Amino acid sequence: MSTGHIGDFTVKRVGYGAMQLAGPGVFGPPADPENNRAVLRRALELGVDHIDTAQFYGPDVVNDLIREALHPYPENLRLVTKVGAERSEKGEFLPAGRPEQLVEQVEANLRALDTDRLTMVNLRRYELDAPGSEEPALEDQLAALVGLREQGKVAEIGVSSVSADTVRRAVDLAGVVSVQNPYSILDRSGQEALEVARDHDLAFVPYFPLGSAFTGGPAKIAADPHVTAVAQKHGVAPTQVALAWLLAQYENVLLIPGTSSIAHLEDNLAVADVQLDPEDLSQLGKVEESPVEI
Ligand SMILES: NC(=O)c1ccc[n+]([C@@H]2O[C@H](COP(=O)([O-])OP(=O)(O)OC[C@H]3O[C@@H](n4cnc5c(N)ncnc54)[C@H](OP(=O)(O)O)[C@@H]3O)[C@@H](O)[C@H]2O)c1
Repeated sequence: MSTGHIGDFTVKRVGYGAMQLAGPGVFGPPADPENNRAVLRRALELGVDHIDTAQFYGPDVVNDLIREALHPYPENLRLVTKVGAERSEKGEFLPAGRPEQLVEQVEANLRALDTDRLTMVNLRRYELDAPGSEEPALEDQLAALVGLREQGKVAEIGVSSVSADTVRRAVDLAGVVSVQNPYSILDRSGQEALEVARDHDLAFVPYFPLGSAFTGGPAKIAADPHVTAVAQKHGVAPTQVALAWLLAQYENVLLIPGTSSIAHLEDNLAVADVQLDPEDLSQLGKVEESPVEI
């Protein structure tokens, strides 16, 4: 499989997003934790070397599953987490991005994953979810994470759910190496941030790459006539076309599709072999957008 990079770390272009391993709504434990540990082990057997996680998945559920299934970790495994959010008692995602909260959250990830150092921590902002709302200053948030980088607790810093302008500022302020934004064939609103990532040779890691479980993204992809036509031509699944479309946008797009199904995991990793031609890309440009609103 071809590779991309997170700063100086080389990773395969298709990794794994662990969010789907928590219970329904990413809240509480899953119905079948042994299945979910098996998904993680199978991911590594198939060569996955990049896992995306968060302590607020569950909360306190997904990182435990990763540790139980995979610790001691292979040397080449890149664990990437995100900070800046927490969960209410009802499971709502709430902003929690004050500098001292960010530090506590990184420490909680290190403890739960039982590791001394994370490959990367993403600063998860709320500027796309709640435009205009008050957030801690980017400068202060990044300074807290730079402190952790200096202590060796995180190797790299990324930003998540941010405007193109925030990406530029974060590169200047902290030398961030990655952007993790919502982006898919159903929601191309992240295009400008992707272009900034390209300009600065950053990784661009789309989340909700299949349009999101929250809004039935995979079913919408399977129902789209342009996607299904390309899928039939190549003899692959519509979801694979949607993931291949993402890989074709920029050579340092790194995928982290989420699933709790071994069959889906295998399909998603096989996408590295799907080569779309210019005619396919032109047809896929006609897919009607259906952005995720949660
Ligand atoms: N930075 C952020 O704020 C943020 C937000 C959301 C997510 N993320 C990260 O991004 C990762 C990817 O996002 P995501 O998992 O929500 O989105 P997604 O990949 O767009 O959607 C996941 C949904 O797709 C289904 N699915 C996966 N592979 C499939 C396949 N081959 N065929 C049919 N259905 C398939 C999954 O169901 P099954 O389980 O049944 O396969 C699940 O319902 C997450 O795991 C997480 O690590 C980050």
